[in-house]
Amino acid sequence: MIFLEIIIAPTAGFCYGVKKAVDCVYNLKYNATIYTYGNLINNKIVIDQLDKIGIKSTYDLDEISKNKGMAVIRSHGVAPEIYQSLTERDIEFVDCSCPHVKKIHDIVEKEVACGREIIIIGDSKHPEVIGINGWANHLATVFETSEEAKNIHFQEDKKYSVVVQTTFRTEKFNEISNVLKQKNLDIKIYNTICNATKKRQDDAVELAKKVDKMIVLGDKGSSNTQKLFEICKLYCENTFYVETIQDLELNIFHSNDKIGITAGASTPSAIIKEAVKAMNELENQVEENNNQTFEEMLNQSFVTIHNGDIVKGTVIQVSNIEVSVNLGYKSDGIITRSEFSDDTSLDLTTAIKVGDEIETVVLRVNDGDGNVQLSKKRIDSLKGLDDIEEAFKNKTLIKGKIIDIVKGGLIAIVNGIRVFVPSSQISNRYVDDLNSFKGHEYSFAILEYDRTKRRIVAGRKEIAEKELNEKKDKLFATLEVGQKITAKVSRLADFGAFVDLEGVVDGLIHISEISWGRVKHPKDVLKVGQEVTVVVLDFSREKSKISLTLKDVNNDPWKAVNEKYAIGSVVEGRVVRITPFGVFVELETGVDGLVHISQISNKHVAKPEDVLKINDVIKVKVLDINNEQKRISLSKKEAEAPVAEEEVEETESK
Ligand code: F3S
Repeated sequence: MIFLEIIIAPTAGFCYGVKKAVDCVYNLKYNATIYTYGNLINNKIVIDQLDKIGIKSTYDLDEISKNKGMAVIRSHGVAPEIYQSLTERDIEFVDCSCPHVKKIHDIVEKEVACGREIIIIGDSKHPEVIGINGWANHLATVFETSEEAKNIHFQEDKKYSVVVQTTFRTEKFNEISNVLKQKNLDIKIYNTICNATKKRQDDAVELAKKVDKMIVLGDKGSSNTQKLFEICKLYCENTFYVETIQDLELNIFHSNDKIGITAGASTPSAIIKEAVKAMNELENQVEENNNQTFEEMLNQSFVTIHNGDIVKGTVIQVSNIEVSVNLGYKSDGIITRSEFSDDTSLDLTTAIKVGDEIETVVLRVNDGDGNVQLSKKRIDSLKGLDDIEEAFKNKTLIKGKIIDIVKGGLIAIVNGIRVFVPSSQISNRYVDDLNSFKGHEYSFAILEYDRTKRRIVAGRKEIAEKELNEKKDKLFATLEVGQKITAKVSRLADFGAFVDLEGVVDGLIHISEISWGRVKHPKDVLKVGQEVTVVVLDFSREKSKISLTLKDVNNDPWKAVNEKYAIGSVVEGRVVRITPFGVFVELETGVDGLVHISQISNKHVAKPEDVLKINDVIKVKVLDINNEQKRISLSKKEAEAPVAEEEVEETESK
């Protein structure tokens, strides 16, 4: 059996600033692409994982602006002109500059304002140093060795202020400081080395001193890991600099070796855990199978996960708050409801059940509580994009559920992806209240698709038009003149009332068809939403029009007009309308007759209103009835004539 004693340096891995930036980026929510301004951290594995979940790295602000993306300033910080360019381009951004680096910017800005020259000790090509130099208007003197410090000519009449790259080695900084101090200069030296770096380096030195072999984990492009390696190498000859445990030559280990592990500030804890786990398993497996090489055994024992990995697992618990997943990893995975779906109305307990297999993406190997933070919606989103792209290319329909109303339209979840639906595209007719669509599922056509910009626009106007036409065909095919329909009043106009027929078409009850009686305005008789039983008078599929009536033919007052108002009889009526050519007199509801101006009086009448007014109750004689045209001619003067004769007779007899 092989025995390895493994000791991890207490401060190995992400520093405060890097952890803050990485956590921030993994938790960002934005509708378009998120771009980090340069690689978020010096670790290719993490950058690849971010790329997998759609977070891109670029220095091209025009690209971000063109794609309406969000920018993230990494922990290294940037020069002031970058903030200015972001603002000018109206780019939304999140500033993840490490507070320690920001403090250096403040020092430099203040010293420059006091007229002092800036010296930066550090790597002139490192983004942190470039950013710091920006605060000195890119005029700082930058170097990183004592030799350079000795050889650079500084002007004695100038005042200098020195800052140092946060990850610079303390010993080297002290050496350089001593060289500078020996020059006859007005110089202020600020030790801006980050404590996190110093602590990591000190811990690594302590560890390197007491182990047989030292492993330094980190990206080969990371300057702080390189420095960590250099100082460990000073104290432990057998120091190995690898990006992951897989890069190690396994035959370097001997039984009873004491192995130290440290990691640079950009190394995720998952990579450290992976190394420890691999070595622990190596110990156990050597005993079981002495014929295999270390590497073979190592490869077999790996059940490792990293941020950004796509992993499959089995659901072991479901609540409406989160889903627990067994990944075959030492910790269980947790999918919170917000990482399960963007659909806030979704009931998790019905969406998935214990025992289901689920594919997810790892957001964080350790969420702080020892669980693996997973996302289903992000993996759905990756898969969903493929389906949406296919639907766009092939012009096929794809289903989605409306979940939100936003400025200018609605948001639908299509295959787990938020898709914008302009309000003009949700229906083929004007919609007053978009909320009526919320929570409903529809078929959509993908109108615009841009994977890079994550711009997806869907619509269903044409589909709705087609669906409506099909429904109309069905409705008109079953319509018959005289058919009774019960429906609701949908709209009132001056000229009549519209009735909603199965949500397909509005039939019209003309104002004259609302009642047998006189109706001044439909609103005097009907209300929107009122249920009415109407009779179909006429319809046209071509014109998509249906004429309806509310008048009951059985109660038509004209049926009895000839009996009740015999020609020559004198009856009473009420003046309901006055026109220049006469007055209309209502004999009963639905039966009006006209007293022509010439029939008002025996005397000359210039205007009917000189003699009569609305609501006057007068006696009239029935002169004629036209049943076909529903017209009755009346005479007031003739109705009054006999009375006048009687009065004459009475007068004569007195
Ligand atoms: Fe900040 Fe120090 Fe890390 S400067 S980014 S906490 S090494």
